[in-house]
Amino acid sequence: MIIDLIAGARPNFVKIAALFGANEEMGKPLKFRLIHTGQHYDEALSGSLFKDLELPKPDINLNVGSGSQAEQTAAIMIAYEKLLEKSRPDICLVVGDVNSSMACAITAKKMRVKVAHIEAGLRSNDWDMPEEVNRVLIDSISDYFFTTTQKASDFLISQGHNKKNVFFVGNTMIDTLLRFKPNFRKPEIWDKFQLKEKEFIIVTLHRPANVSKEKFLKSYLEEILKNSEELSVIFPAHPRTRKLLNKLGFTHPRLFIVDALSYLEFNYLVERCKAVLTDSGGITEETTVLGIPCLTLRNNTERPETISHGTNELLRTDPKAIAPAINKVLTGNWKKGSIPELWDGRTGNRIVEILRHL
Ligand code: UD1
Repeated sequence: MIIDLIAGARPNFVKIAALFGANEEMGKPLKFRLIHTGQHYDEALSGSLFKDLELPKPDINLNVGSGSQAEQTAAIMIAYEKLLEKSRPDICLVVGDVNSSMACAITAKKMRVKVAHIEAGLRSNDWDMPEEVNRVLIDSISDYFFTTTQKASDFLISQGHNKKNVFFVGNTMIDTLLRFKPNFRKPEIWDKFQLKEKEFIIVTLHRPANVSKEKFLKSYLEEILKNSEELSVIFPAHPRTRKLLNKLGFTHPRLFIVDALSYLEFNYLVERCKAVLTDSGGITEETTVLGIPCLTLRNNTERPETISHGTNELLRTDPKAIAPAINKVLTGNWKKGSIPELWDGRTGNRIVEILRHL
């Protein structure tokens, strides 16, 4: 059996790494064909992940690059269809909710290849996010569903999917986090900015809702700096955010804007920071497991367990919510949280075991 593993954007590589790890560990490995769509091409968003996460070189790179939502999706579909015409796998396995996952899932399904979805059944109900459209589309055509929570499984079954094909397995992103924790690596900026444990906060913002308007980004930064006392503020910026930050020209003696960091360096910082302010979904899961306060600048989340169980709180996209939240962190009153069921580092093994018997 040949299984295509589709990866294109940063979080995909992190999730896929769990499958490679498990597949090797379990012996009699399944045959994976790693397809890199090329959605992310920068060293920090893609290249360094291969080294950090010990991923094999992609078998095929579709090299699609950037574009509008439709351009990017169409380019991936065309390139993947050409590949499938020449050589078809038994299963196309996609992860998460990015354009690469949606484009390949649809292409595979139309070519009568079975589709499996890791991280199925998540919903934010926010149609302003392209990721929500992608989640709904992928789940509507998938044959096999791997979920991070029982709630996501229940939701899929309530939507009419056959429960024999819905598997609550846990979280592959956490497998990777736990496996590579011993390798977390001190970034250069640690010494350069004289960082000290628990004396800095991390900010990551990349969603168009937060980083397409200068006014918004500026008021977030002002509120964060005004309320964070003596803490340094480290802002590893996604390329899109970097462009806007350069335009904004905002500076402050405690603010350090740096390029996106590699996975091992970023998580070295997360493990040692006082708190993270973010609009990422994956980071809310990682901070939950690392027990780090996470302040999310979004109006909703498709990962409610990071709030009900974990260390995450939604501040919405309201700059005024930042002051009381940071205060809660500084006064030691942030919740401690617990780890959701099956986020135990063995999810990849459970998935490989199921795939072997399909
Ligand atoms: C994508 C995912 C998002 C995920 C994020 C992680 C979709 C719809 N969104 O968003 O869910 O959280 O990845 O990073 O798939 N760019 C570069 N270098 C790169 C890649 C992109 O400069 O290597 C620039 C592009 O030119 C574009 C912008 O970043 O201007 C957006 O890239 P894109 O891949 O479309 O979406 P992300 O915002 O990264």
